[in-house]
This record gives sequence, C-alpha cells and structure tokens, in this order.
Amino acid sequence: MPRYLINFDTSRIERVDSDVVVVGSGVAGLSAALEISKQFDVALVTKGELRETATWYAQGGVATAVSSEDSPRLHLKDTLEAGAGLCNKDAVDVLVNEAADRIDGLVRLGIKFDLQGDRIELSREGGHRLARVLHSGDATGSEIEATLIRTVDAWKSIRVFENRFALDLILHQGHCRGVICLDKLSGQVVLHAAKAVILATGGAGQLYSVTTNPPVCTGDGMAMAYRAGAILSDMEFIQFHPTALDNELTPRFLITEALRGRGAYLRDCNGKRFMVGRHPLAELAPRDIVSQEMVRVMHRCGGGPVYLDATHIGEEVLKDRFPTIWARCYENGINIAKDLIPVRPAAHYTIGGIKTDLNGLTSIPDLYATGEVACTGVHGANRLASNSLLEGLVFSKRIADTIVHKLADGDNYSEPDFFVSYKRERPNMDVDVRKERTWLQKLMTEYVGVVRSEEGLKFALSQLEEKEKILEVEFSTKEGFELQNMLYIAKLIAKSALSRRESRGVHYREDYPEPSDDWLLHLEHRFMEDNIAEPSIFLPGV
Ligand code: FAD
Ligand code: SIN
Repeated sequence: MPRYLINFDTSRIERVDSDVVVVGSGVAGLSAALEISKQFDVALVTKGELRETATWYAQGGVATAVSSEDSPRLHLKDTLEAGAGLCNKDAVDVLVNEAADRIDGLVRLGIKFDLQGDRIELSREGGHRLARVLHSGDATGSEIEATLIRTVDAWKSIRVFENRFALDLILHQGHCRGVICLDKLSGQVVLHAAKAVILATGGAGQLYSVTTNPPVCTGDGMAMAYRAGAILSDMEFIQFHPTALDNELTPRFLITEALRGRGAYLRDCNGKRFMVGRHPLAELAPRDIVSQEMVRVMHRCGGGPVYLDATHIGEEVLKDRFPTIWARCYENGINIAKDLIPVRPAAHYTIGGIKTDLNGLTSIPDLYATGEVACTGVHGANRLASNSLLEGLVFSKRIADTIVHKLADGDNYSEPDFFVSYKRERPNMDVDVRKERTWLQKLMTEYVGVVRSEEGLKFALSQLEEKEKILEVEFSTKEGFELQNMLYIAKLIAKSALSRRESRGVHYREDYPEPSDDWLLHLEHRFMEDNIAEPSIFLPGV
C-alpha cells in the first residue's frame, strides 16, 4: 500500500504557512480554530463548504450535567456503563467535568438552547438515567455549526480554505509539519505547512449504504493519519443508530432518540412493543441493545422495518418540539401524529479512530486529533447518546490550550524550510469510482454491520483484498481519493471485527454472542507500507 495517495515534490508546489493548520470545519475543527486564533495564525482547510459536516445534522443535543438532580459523577457512571468496560475512565472524567464550561462558552457565542421558563430544558436519550441533553429544538447541530461559522466570519482571524481536500500528512524529522491538499477549484496540489496539525475530519459512516452520515464522512483523516504512521484504535466499534427513517436514501434521515425520550414506542410488524421486558429502560436502553434487538425483530418480521409510534404524544407537542422531524416525515407522506414511522438501524458514529492522549495528541509529535476522527477512549465499546458534540468541544479546547502553551513557550520548532517528495510507479487503470463506492457501502452494510460472523467478515475481507489494486492508482479527483481512504478504513474495521471473538457494546458477533473478560482490551493498527497488518492487542490504559 502506498504511503501517499499521490506522487509529489513539495519544492515544486505552492506552499501556505501558518502556525497551525486545522483540517475540518465541524464542531471540533471550528472550536479548536477559534480558540487558537485568539493568539496564533490558523489556516482552516475543509473539503467542501464550511457547513458540510455531520455536526450540521445533529439533532438530539449535548449531554451535560446541569440539573440539580444531576452531577458529573452520574454522567460519568452512565457513560462508563454504556461503554461496556472499554472506556478510558480518565478521559471520561475530563469529558464530564469540563462539559459545563464548554456549554457556557457556546452560550457566550450566542447559541440558544431551549428553555422551560428560565431554566434550560433537558431531554432524555438512550442509556441516560435522567434527562440531561441540552438542545435547540431537534436541530441542535445546525444551531451550533451556524453560530460557530458566524463567529469565524465575524472574528476574521482564521484563514479559511473551502473546497480544499487534505490528501496526506507531511512529517519532517518525526514531527507532523503539514498537509498536502488538492484545491478543487484550481486543481492544484498545495502544501499547508505548520508547527502543528489538527485533524478534525469526522467519522466514516459513508462506508455503509444505510447510514445517517452525510457524504463528507469518508474516514479521510483516519486513513491519512494511518498512512503517516499514527496508531488507530478500536476500529471494530461502529455505532448503529436504531431509528433512521426507512427508505432507500444515503444518507438516511435520523429520527432523534429524544423522540423516544419524549415517550415514543418501538413496535414490531404486529404492533407489539418489543423492548419492554428486554431491558429495564425499554425503548431507552443503550443503542447497541436496541439496534441488535431490532435486527432480530426485523428478521422475525420477514426483513421489513420496525415502527416508531409517537401518535400518543400529541400533534402540538410534536410540531413544537420536533419541527424538523415533523416536516421531513410529512414530506415522505407520514403524519407522525397519526401514522407509525418505519425505521431501521443505520451506521451512525465511528467510535474508533486516531488514538490520542488527554490533550488530543496522537502518537505522532505535533499531530492532534479531535471529534469523531479521534479515539480519546471516552466512548469505550458504545458511545452514550449526545456525548460526541461534547467530546469535540472538550478535547478541542484542551488541544488549543496545549498548542497555545507550546507555541507561546517558543516551541522547539527549528526547521521551517523542509522538502519532502514521493515517487512510486502507479498502474494505469480505469476505475468507476461511483460504482465501487456503492459496492463497498453494500458490502460493509451486509457483512460488517450490526450483526457479524467469522464467515461474513472473512468474505468481506477477501472481497476487499481483491480491490487493493485501486489503492495503487493515482487519482485526480476528490471522489477517487475518498474511495481509496474508504477502502483502507473498511479493511481495518473488518480486520478488527474478525479479531475480536466476542460481543461487546456495538460489536455483535453471532458466533460469539457473549462478552468475554479475555477481550477487555483494545485492538490497534499501525501502517506498514505495502501491507495492512493484523491488529495488535493493547490492554486498556497502555
Ligand atoms: P464533522 O462535523 O463531521 O466535520 C468533519 C469536517 O471535516 C467536515 O468539514 C468535512 O468536510 C471535513 N473533512 C473530512 N475529510 C476531509 C478532507 N480529506 N479534507 C478536508 N476536509 C475534510 N452527536 C451528539 O453529540 N448529539 C447529537 O444530537 C447528534 N446527532 C447526530 C445526528 C446525525 C444525523 C449524525 C450524522 C450525527 C449525530 N451526532 C450527534 C454525532 C455528531 O454529530 C458527530 O459525531 C460530530 O458532529 C462530529 O463532529 P466533527 O467536528 O468531529 O466532524
Ligand atoms: C439523536 O438525536 O438521536 C442522536 C444523538 C447522538 O447521536 O448522540
């Protein structure tokens, strides 16, 4: 496998210098960039327009212990319980204890969370023992993203490069010193050189045909960090959201868990509530349990969807509290006050990613990762609902503080001029990129989805191996590079899923249906040029 997606020579391409380059414009990238730009020069690179992010689509909200009955300790308890034994407790401590400060920061920027009288209104979601989720209607993500973008525009302190696709990380003397990018408009390759690089490129939900993730979520950051030698961890853990609207679209429209928090039921094809008796929290059990049960019920029902029933909640409440869902279902011919909503699980969140420490630092000096691309360890084997916007906010602030501190101290950065080049024979091959992407998405959904088995995973891996020649091709379009990144990440997910011979959190193996204490460990990957090696095993905390 090539180390870089393209052949290049940095002495021959345009170079843009800044103190820090941030890749990605979701909640994680924008919040890190804003914080650092108070003192240092930041270039923000994003592959589409600023708002093309998963963040924009977030519905439910941000989990934070703000009510008088709640506390960071209770939030920690629910997070650890959902994480099924694999959370890094120190990281969860950081998450829950720094949450309220980050919420204050959002409110200061002008983000409006819903109020009930003069108090913040909280909703309840799966795995939370009490109402803890701050929200802006059912469109919390767009409220946060739009406010952060407005702040970037108003402060004018960040150089923004839209439609610029980050291809690969550049290392010099073992430190990360920049990113080579393809500029979509000019077609030119550009080097963004910096003293530190922050990857905030989001998840890889687009590896699946049934997904809630928008088209930008193709795992690019994970793939480029992997090629650069960073450790990737926990790749087998892909979270499936139970209630995506059942239709043929990619992405699928999400029906927020907050609707179940407001009282909606899940019913099978015979109208029976199937989560009652299955878990003490019934429809509000953690997502892994609900999704896995749904797959069993769908199988019993001949493969069709299950149904979300909100008809007893009342039209006024539904229209007022869930206006986006009301409108989108209405467009699809569903009046949620009267009709059942057909739903099925969809790939939703990439729990694994680039391994970081508590300050977002990866295993490569001066390379940081934040948001969904990172694996901080807060989610363990299953993410607690509405903990990910929060994770981006909390760890981006810690990264910003770390970098600002380091740069203010004079840093040890002493080689601003460096040149790197890469040349490799590339085969001439016609690739129908769109067709291959669709093929990959179907393969992953069928064999590396909610329910997995040795036979299915081996089949998926053999199919992926046959496509490896695509990784050698030098493409010239974003779509081609995305396909290559998706192929790298698909293989890592499938390899880890095959290695983990147990069921834990979101990883369910029908041939090993129970968790095993032998597997209270993490699987990690490190790139070796020309090979995708077996994952290595690391014990928690190592
Ligand atoms: P994103 O917001 O996905 O941003 C990634 C950015 O990186 C984008 O700007 C993208 O263009 C850019 N990028 C990617 N690759 C490249 C490249 N090669 N070059 C340049 N730029 C690149 N979480 C919650 O906590 N609460 C919720 O209520 C909630 N609801 C959700 C609903 C939906 C439908 C979805 C899909 C997710 C939801 N999540 C929720 C999860 C949460 O939205 C995401 O985990 C979070 O927004 C990720 O933020 P991020 O900044 O890491 O990545
Ligand atoms: C939802 O609103 O159900 C999604 C919340 C999340 O993914 O955290």
